[in-house]
Amino acid sequence: MKKTIIANWKMNPVSLDQALHLAGEIEKRTTGIKNAEVVIAPPYPFLKDIGRVLKKTKLGAQNMHWEEAGPYTGEVSWRQLKHFRVTHVIIGHSERRIHMGETDEMINKKIKAALKANLIPILAVGEQKKLSENAMRLVLSRQLSRGLAGITAHDFKKGAIAYEPVWAIGTGRAATPKHAGIALRMIQKILAGLWKTKKVTMPILYGGSVNSKNAADFISPTMGGMQGLLVGSASLNATEFTGIIKSSSPESF
Ligand code: 13P
Repeated sequence: MKKTIIANWKMNPVSLDQALHLAGEIEKRTTGIKNAEVVIAPPYPFLKDIGRVLKKTKLGAQNMHWEEAGPYTGEVSWRQLKHFRVTHVIIGHSERRIHMGETDEMINKKIKAALKANLIPILAVGEQKKLSENAMRLVLSRQLSRGLAGITAHDFKKGAIAYEPVWAIGTGRAATPKHAGIALRMIQKILAGLWKTKKVTMPILYGGSVNSKNAADFISPTMGGMQGLLVGSASLNATEFTGIIKSSSPESF
């Protein structure tokens, strides 16, 4: 199965020139890669221009509003994203939950709207600080059951979950592949319970201080076993991000 490797550029870089250069380098250096679906999620103002330079690489958004249009100052709707070749949208990133007050209920509306608009939602979940397995299960269960309320496995069949422990984001201290693997199985079990199904097949990604040295371990079936990665700071460096893509999508996985 193809691994999904997503670059979440967050509020970077500062200029369109830099953004175009970075996207162009990533595209150029990964054209021969077969086993990965690469997505770049730049800030909104760069979507249009970056969409034009990407060929094989997919274009993602970092957020969206659930309404089509209306009095929501500063927001961008799913309808507007559809003009820019956007295929994926990150929903419920912890930085939005923490700094922008985004709730599970808002996240749920966004996922429903994304699915209706035929955008692939990447639902981000994760605990804020290191917790016991039981406490972590409670956090993930709450985020998943509320975020996916009223959404069936069939509705979400193209979607993905990104497990991003907040304590590992931007710290340079990634979770261990073993911890990611525990979260992966926990998420699969929670979803199987929610959807009353035996097997959950949608991709579950890991995010939090991924770099070109640790990426392969998160993906390796004998270590993390994750089906993709959501990469922040390391995705702002073409060499580093390309290294992540190459090491996490060898033919053998
Ligand atoms: P870092 O890779 O910078 O830790 O960020 C992870 C992240 O939040 C991706 O969405």
